[in-house]
Amino acid sequence: MPDPGALMAAEIAEQPAAWRRLSIEGRDQVRAAARRIADYAPRFVLFVARGTSDHAALYAKYLTEIVLQLPAGLVSPSTMTTYGSRPDLRQTLMIAVSQSGGSPDLIQSLQVARERGALTLAVTNQPSSPLAEVSELDLDIRAGEERAVAATKSYTTQLLALYLLLDAVRGGDGSATDGLPDLADQVIADNDQFVRLAERYRFASRLVSTGRGYSYPTAREAALKLMETSYLSAQAFSGADLLHGPLAMIDRQVPVLATVNDGHGGAAMLPVLSRLRDLGADVCCVGAGEAVRAASAGYALPGQVPEEVSPLLEIIPFQLLALHLSVARGSDPDAPRGLAKVTETL
Ligand code: F6R
Repeated sequence: MPDPGALMAAEIAEQPAAWRRLSIEGRDQVRAAARRIADYAPRFVLFVARGTSDHAALYAKYLTEIVLQLPAGLVSPSTMTTYGSRPDLRQTLMIAVSQSGGSPDLIQSLQVARERGALTLAVTNQPSSPLAEVSELDLDIRAGEERAVAATKSYTTQLLALYLLLDAVRGGDGSATDGLPDLADQVIADNDQFVRLAERYRFASRLVSTGRGYSYPTAREAALKLMETSYLSAQAFSGADLLHGPLAMIDRQVPVLATVNDGHGGAAMLPVLSRLRDLGADVCCVGAGEAVRAASAGYALPGQVPEEVSPLLEIIPFQLLALHLSVARGSDPDAPRGLAKVTETL
């Protein structure tokens, strides 16, 4: 019998190599897709995805709005499947994000989008999948086979593929990501720190996860990883929304995971952290060193990277925390209760 979590641990550790591979081998595909998008000149960008891939899409929505200055949104696949919605999608770029490329609701949504005039792009780990086939353009994230049920390396390679694509559309060369694989190797080498953090939260039954701007998708993905591997109730809120009601449920019994980057989003988290401190909350902070030192616990990320690429690094501590928390609580994160690799929701 393999150790519990052996698959997930291996795939977390494979991330830096997967990023290096995508940056080199995917370059031509990224450039070709970016040129086609630039020629099409979309006025709107929509994303469609589920689960972890939806969090990658949320990151890309921030990038699109901030970097490309285009209105962007996440489409709920059910509007086109369950409700049969057929909006006019001319001048729209619709991007489906899916590790498997096999989620039927995404396939159907992309088909509808194409019929309704959108330029369609599938970002997937399976270039011969039905999703890639129905799409006009596709981008292979080259993560290698992902066997663990909990997505890890496919998430960060989705983030990287989406960053490289949208950066290329604005005329960039992706160089902001150059140092990331080496920094990720450093985080992974700090594995023991996450074993200790897992001990600290071993008996928690619920927690809250929060971040702002580019780090909000990280907060959501961190919560999902903890729910699916450790079965605790983890709710994610943007730092802004946390103050608009949910803050009332925070007390010393509800640990808060805070993702604080080095940029605008991180700066906007500082008043949130101060409110949490006033409540005596146990705040576990990941990200910028100063915020981590002021927190109850946490992990300071190595190096300093531009805020727009920080989500690639900042999720790794939470992946490792989820892995070790699951094992510490007597579960096997490679075999989460009731979950399979592709969830067929129509
Ligand atoms: C969580 C996880 C799921 C998938 C979701 C979408 O770790 O793996 O949430 O992300 O089922 O699957 P794909 O990306 O294959 O469409």
